[in-house]
Amino acid sequence: MITLTRAEGSLAEGQAPLKVAWVKEGRLLSQGEALDARLGGLLRRALEGASLKEGESLLVAAPEGQVLLFGLGEDARSSGGRLAQALLRLRFPEALVEPLPEAYALAEGLLLGAYRFDRHRSEKEEKALTLRILGAEEVLERARKVAEGVYLARDLVNEPPNLLTPEALAERALELRALGVEVEVLDEEAIASLGMGAFLAVAQGSANPPRFIRLRYAPPGARARLDLVGKGLTFDSGGYSLKPTESMTTMKGDMAGAAAVLGAMKSAALLGLPVEIRGYIAACENMISGRAYRVGDVLKTLSGKTVEVMNTDAEGRLTLADALFYAEREGAERILELSTLTGAAVVALGEEVAALFATEPAWGSLVQEAAHRAGEKVWPMPLEKAYREKLKSPVADLKNVGDRNGGAITAALFLSEFVRVPLAHLDIAGPAFAKKGHALGPEGGTGFGVRTILEVAQAL
Ligand code: BES
Ligand code: ZN
Ligand code: ZN
Repeated sequence: MITLTRAEGSLAEGQAPLKVAWVKEGRLLSQGEALDARLGGLLRRALEGASLKEGESLLVAAPEGQVLLFGLGEDARSSGGRLAQALLRLRFPEALVEPLPEAYALAEGLLLGAYRFDRHRSEKEEKALTLRILGAEEVLERARKVAEGVYLARDLVNEPPNLLTPEALAERALELRALGVEVEVLDEEAIASLGMGAFLAVAQGSANPPRFIRLRYAPPGARARLDLVGKGLTFDSGGYSLKPTESMTTMKGDMAGAAAVLGAMKSAALLGLPVEIRGYIAACENMISGRAYRVGDVLKTLSGKTVEVMNTDAEGRLTLADALFYAEREGAERILELSTLTGAAVVALGEEVAALFATEPAWGSLVQEAAHRAGEKVWPMPLEKAYREKLKSPVADLKNVGDRNGGAITAALFLSEFVRVPLAHLDIAGPAFAKKGHALGPEGGTGFGVRTILEVAQAL
């Protein structure tokens, strides 16, 4: 648990048992210099011969309390994350932190870096850390509200799949009502009577029934509208096209797109963003049973288009086809969709960069620039029409997979068949789930997408 509070004055004048001064390329920043002058050059002497790289630290005992000299890197957000982790590790309960020009990024990094998921551990590491930061309260307040959404997304991804079933995910969505977000949950019967044949087929193998979740955050006088769709597979075994165990170990996170939508909704409501945001999540499990869908099945989507299933592990695009078509029918003007859709996107861009596909260049650029401002890595990919023929089926309008090549592209082309309004598709299969700890958090769910969505909404 980390709390950020605002402190007044300066590092030199402030009173604290522990003060943190940043060091970059062997030098103190201005407030650190002032503190050092007061301490008669103690800090500079301690720094001699020690080149503190990002995340490295040196603890100096001074007459009025200790000073932690901490290596600042290129990115204030990451350095903030590393600092929070170091302070938690050193078990300091409280510190006064020197401000940086990138005040917002620092605050966000401190909060994100301190995230822990210990809900299911018998021995909790309940370490409370209070950081007093010199700077403006508005900046801290915004960072707290954004971090709340990222924390929610991470918690949902980290929650094990036996506990976070489609129904449980819907319950978590309903909790957003307390913030003024309208939430409606459709059960299996309602999904069937709507005609979401593709979504239902993916869901039918599981003993845990599917849920379709609709959310609407509509502040009075909203200046624009944004529609979000998130992939909501609470577990993806692959179905009859079964995944090997190793590939299945992170598949509780196959609802990371949905988690990003819920996290962003939460932050948007807390921030009071002046934009109407709607969200759609088709939540289900991809399982094996006597009722599960098969390879060879032909499904009728909500749009009326038929799909031949050539691989039951390409299930996300089937659930999304119905959710996207539904979103457009509800009046979406433009859609931002996030999904842990393909391993091919991870092969192409690795585990840190999301693949961005857009049916309209202006919409794609807006999302790319928003992601850049948010500090989330995305890279544009081509929606190459020439590959559309890979999705031709001998018996239906489309099949759900192409061949081995260009797998992220054919998946994106498949989705684009179900919408006419501008669509931006973010394949977050890589960055949604961290296999090891990093500057902004531990291994597990990253909450990727929440910050980008918020920046997109603010740019409208
Ligand atoms: N959920 C997976 C994609 C995925 C892979 C997410 C790795 C996170 C990490 C998706 O449903 C899937 O299985 N896609 C298949 C598609 C293939 C059958 C065309 C894949 O990528 O192998
Ligand atoms: Zn799959
Ligand atoms: Zn999947």
